[in-house]
Amino acid sequence: MCIVNREEAVLRELNLYPLWQRRDTVAPTATQAAELVEQKIETASNKSRGQFISELGWPELKTMVRDCTACKLRAGCTQTVFGVGDEKADWLFVGEGPGADEDALGEPFVGQAGKLLDNMLAAIKLKRGNNVYIANIVKCRPPGNRNPEADEIAQCLPYLQRQIALIQPKLIVALGKTAASAMLGKEATLGSLRGKLHDYRGIPLIITYHPAYLLRSPMEKAKAWQDLCLAVETMQKA
Ligand code: URA
Repeated sequence: MCIVNREEAVLRELNLYPLWQRRDTVAPTATQAAELVEQKIETASNKSRGQFISELGWPELKTMVRDCTACKLRAGCTQTVFGVGDEKADWLFVGEGPGADEDALGEPFVGQAGKLLDNMLAAIKLKRGNNVYIANIVKCRPPGNRNPEADEIAQCLPYLQRQIALIQPKLIVALGKTAASAMLGKEATLGSLRGKLHDYRGIPLIITYHPAYLLRSPMEKAKAWQDLCLAVETMQKA
């Protein structure tokens, strides 16, 4: 990448682009301005993207996700879907990525699968937004609801990692194989992962079926119920 584009990219990431100067303030000299820009670029280039994201607060994180074009998904979706709920929740539910309804409304799990998730929450006396946060592995809708690809997950995962660090949930429930694999950093069948306790960076992690899968395979609801009971027991001990 040529130096001008690299500078612009870094400044955009820092939300410092375009570089505007109020007319009624004393303008820095050209040398001072160049030094300031150089300092910001040096700071940003010395940090990896992941490290940069890992230091953001909620407002900056939301802005960065909203403006993100790090992978090809953003070009094909209506808007990013950041996450919703109590930013100090004990419970975090993680899905795969927005579908058509979520893409239209900007909120996770608002379609048919979302209705089932709300019912699953109600079954264990929880409610969206009340000590519960809901997020996805990828923040942009994959076209035609295909699974997110590895590079898309890799670009988006630092956002979820930062959400988790800010929320500090006592328990995470991963919904479906994509969420489970991304959080564990390994591929495995959902059947082999569910029904037991995992660990995500020191936080208990429970893996269960995705609500969309349960809509297609209602016979598996009994196992999802067992997983939710394990989650409740785990939370009681946390
Ligand atoms: N499926 C998901 O994984 N997440 C949503 O937000 C909606 C459907």
